[in-house]
Amino acid sequence: MTDQIGVNSLPELSLAEVLTHAGGPDPVPALLEPAGAVLVRDAGVAGAPALAALAGRLGLRAVDQTEPFAARRDLGDGVWSQPAWPATAPMCMHHELGWQREPPPYLLVSCLRAPATGGRTGVADGRAVLPLLPDALVRRAARHGWILVRRYAAGLIGMSWQEAFPDMDVAAVEAYAAGEGIDLSWGPDHLLTRRTRPALRRTGQDGVLAWSNLLAFCSEWTMDPAVRTYLITALGRAGLPFETSFGDGSPFTAADVEAVNAAYDRVSAHVTWRAGDVLVLDNIRAAHSSEPFTGSREMAVLHAAPAVPR
Ligand SMILES: [Fe+2]
Repeated sequence: MTDQIGVNSLPELSLAEVLTHAGGPDPVPALLEPAGAVLVRDAGVAGAPALAALAGRLGLRAVDQTEPFAARRDLGDGVWSQPAWPATAPMCMHHELGWQREPPPYLLVSCLRAPATGGRTGVADGRAVLPLLPDALVRRAARHGWILVRRYAAGLIGMSWQEAFPDMDVAAVEAYAAGEGIDLSWGPDHLLTRRTRPALRRTGQDGVLAWSNLLAFCSEWTMDPAVRTYLITALGRAGLPFETSFGDGSPFTAADVEAVNAAYDRVSAHVTWRAGDVLVLDNIRAAHSSEPFTGSREMAVLHAAPAVPR
């Protein structure tokens, strides 16, 4: 396939070029319109303060990361480390906090220390993914949305509810869940959550529909097969940290996961990181992934929204 901007390759800009865009009051939508993501090469971002400052110059502010996928270290200034995740394991395509009613609209990802090998970040434009998916799958997802069942429990794969909701007590978690439209079921040592979300979302300045969900990312079929089998054998379905289905309750199958990942593969661009680089993403439109790496890669992430609400 020939590389096109937004399909297999990303626009790359220098910091000076990006800051030219920063002249207006709300520069990011125009910056991201061509592909849903832009790589700012050699932006000179060496830490959290510099990343937060760049976000500010682009008219963005940091937003909270309630209910993360995995624990991150707080680097200050609204900036977080990469998630606690084995360097040897890939992380497949996802939208950050894509289970929220309104996920963070933007994401700034910066490389503080490049890996020795591997560790590329994949980026896939959900607008380009959508027409590549089987019609029946898209119709069902568009009509019914998707359901996420997430279990929080200490000692299993995943997080305890106390880790996912630090500084929150039971009442605060219940208030958060009510605001997010999440059904809760408390057990003696676990919390079961269930929510329905749209599978397609309108993106960008013109509201173009994009595939934007975590149906595949949170599917039990995305887990390492040996781990999945072990959890189900040892603990039953309650051992699975995540399960997804279509919003009408019909299963999102292993074949569906394969179809979605094949579409992602066809349109993915890959960032080979250098220290100081910053990737600016439309987090609703573009999914991102991570490859295994060696060495001591260090990333910093800022979940962002417009500083002045649109
Ligand atoms: Fe991520």
